[in-house]
This record gives sequence, C-alpha cells and structure tokens, in this order.
Amino acid sequence: MIEVKSVNINTFRDDTKYNILYDLSLDIIEGEILGVAGESGSGKSVFARYLLGLNDSNLILNGGELIIDNDMIVSVDDYKRIRGRTVSMIFQDAASALNPTFTIGSQLIDTIMLHNPLMNRKDARIKAISCLREVEIDYPEDRLDSCPHQLSGGMSQRVMIALALATEPKYLIADESTTALDKLIERQILDLLLKLNKDRKLTIIFISHDLSILESICDRVAILYAGELMEIVDKDDMRSSKFSHPYTRALRDCVPNITRETLASTFRLKTITGQIQQNDSAMEGRCIFTDRCTKTTNECVKSKPKFNGKFKCFNPIKIDEKI
Ligand SMILES: Nc1ncnc2c1ncn2[C@@H]1O[C@H](COP(=O)(O)OP(=O)(O)O)[C@@H](O)[C@H]1O
Ligand SMILES: [Mg+2]
Repeated sequence: MIEVKSVNINTFRDDTKYNILYDLSLDIIEGEILGVAGESGSGKSVFARYLLGLNDSNLILNGGELIIDNDMIVSVDDYKRIRGRTVSMIFQDAASALNPTFTIGSQLIDTIMLHNPLMNRKDARIKAISCLREVEIDYPEDRLDSCPHQLSGGMSQRVMIALALATEPKYLIADESTTALDKLIERQILDLLLKLNKDRKLTIIFISHDLSILESICDRVAILYAGELMEIVDKDDMRSSKFSHPYTRALRDCVPNITRETLASTFRLKTITGQIQQNDSAMEGRCIFTDRCTKTTNECVKSKPKFNGKFKCFNPIKIDEKI
C-alpha cells in the first residue's frame, strides 16, 4: 500500500507562494487501478513525480508523509531504493522515453541485468523476450534488434511498459500514457494494463484528463483540482455518474457520450467556464472551486471544506439533483 499523508508542495513566483499540491492525502491500495483525473494544470504529473522523488528542485516539499509498503520515504536514498524497483512509471511520449540510439533488446537486457546483478546476458535475453511476450508483442526475438524509431506508437508504448515491468515493480504509474494514441490502439493498451493488473496483481496509478477512459478501467478515481483532492469516486458511482462534488460533475460533463447529436456538426462540446484557479495563500481559507462553481454559497468563501473521506464540499450534489 502507498500512503500519502497531508502533502504540500509549493513554488514561489515573484515572492508569491503557490500551492502546487495542497494538503493532499490519498491511499493507493494494493491490487487496485486508481485513476487520477483533473484538468490540465491540476497537479497530476507533480503528484506522480512526487511518488518517485522526481520533481524539479524549485518545487518545495512542505510537510507530509509518503509511506510505501510500511517504509517511510524521506531521503534521496529512500527514493533510489524504490524507484524502478517498487514503483515504475510510463509516460505519454514513449518515443522520447526510449533511447533512440540503442536497440530495444539492449535497453531491455541492460535494465534486467542492472536489476539482477547475478544474471548473465544469455538469461537476461531470455527474460527480455518473455517481457516482450507479456506485453503481447509479436515475434519478440526479432523485435529485440529493432530501434525505437522503427516502432509504431502503440508498439512503443508496449515496449515502454515492458521496460517498466522488467524490474518487477509492484506499482506502475501511467501518466497520460495513452493520450497521444488513436482510440483503437488506446483500447488495446488499456486492455493490456487490465490484464497486467489481473495476472501480475500489478497496482496501477492511471493518470488522465479523460474521465471516460478512467471510468472503463479504474476501481476508484481521485479527482484533483488546482492541487487539491476534491473527490474519490468508486467504480460503480463513476459508471452511473453519481458524483458528490460539483467539480467532478462539471468535469464529466465535458466528455460527451458519442451519439447522433454529439456527432452533428452543430454540436458544441461543454466546457467548464473560467480558468483553473491559481492556488495561492488567499485560497487557503476558502474552497478552491468557488469561482467556477454553480453551487457556491457564503460558507464556501469563508472557510475551506474538509475532505470527509469521499469528498470536500459544503454543498454536495444530492441524489437526482440536476446542476
Ligand atoms: N517545476 C515547476 N515549477 C513551477 N511550477 C510548476 C513546475 N511543474 C509544474 N508546475 C505547475 O504545477 C501545476 C501542476 O502541473 P502538472 O502537475 O504538470 O499538471 P497536470 O499534469 O495535471 O496537467 C501547473 O500549474 C504547473 O504550471
Ligand atoms: Mg500532466
């Protein structure tokens, strides 16, 4: 289990402090697929990099705890111990994450040997082939000699997943890793992740701005806004669009269900009016979503609602309420 407790990450611009993550607490349960959703700029990638200790040095960690499998992660050495071994990550842009000058085989074999210092090259090659087979790459023996530029987008993603799994991690973070793919290939990669979750008991943290994708694969979805956790929605509520937070509702409304109407040229996609809020110290005493919320009351601008385990809102949406 990964336990994140009251994490604050700040940055300073022109002497003003901004909260990039604010009082964020979230548990990631073994074996689950946890979705992390939110508009662009809501802190999803900063959160992912925090779990691996990879944030830029101008992002300052200001309190909070990270506990991975009962192991408190504090120092650079703690992070080195877990990075790649316990927790691995795959990115949106597979082509740039793979080294263009080496074959797929040498990158995989080197990673495997680094992780298993006693293994010889021949055995590492055999394991590399089985890794490629596990991510359903055809003719894996032949693929070892390919260079990254010879692979299609979907194939590059599979190779990146194989590389991430070569060190046998327990947790895999996928940050917008299917966003650049076309819908058909995206579905295949999602099915692969579902299979790995089931067969390997791999815990997956799947980050996306697209709620419709998260709905189809996640056990729970954490909704982030301007660095704050607004709601955690479980699978059933996700599928029946049963949300408590007006932000989650608004975010879901931005994703159309494909129908004859939505395909018509006159159809206009819904958006959330206004822009994502800068989370500065003035926002610490009020709800961060007030400026864009349709349910704002006096209370919302006078104090900040507390996260109650499910959501953080003074005026949650009631069952059957239309907003
Ligand atoms: N190194 C950095 N320095 C300053 N601000 C940053 C840095 N990295 C990210 N941010 C800011 O943190 C916020 C969250 O970024 P990010 O996690 O990339 O969003 P998301 O992945 O949800 O689109 C954004 O406002 C972004 O500009
Ligand atoms: Mg991001």
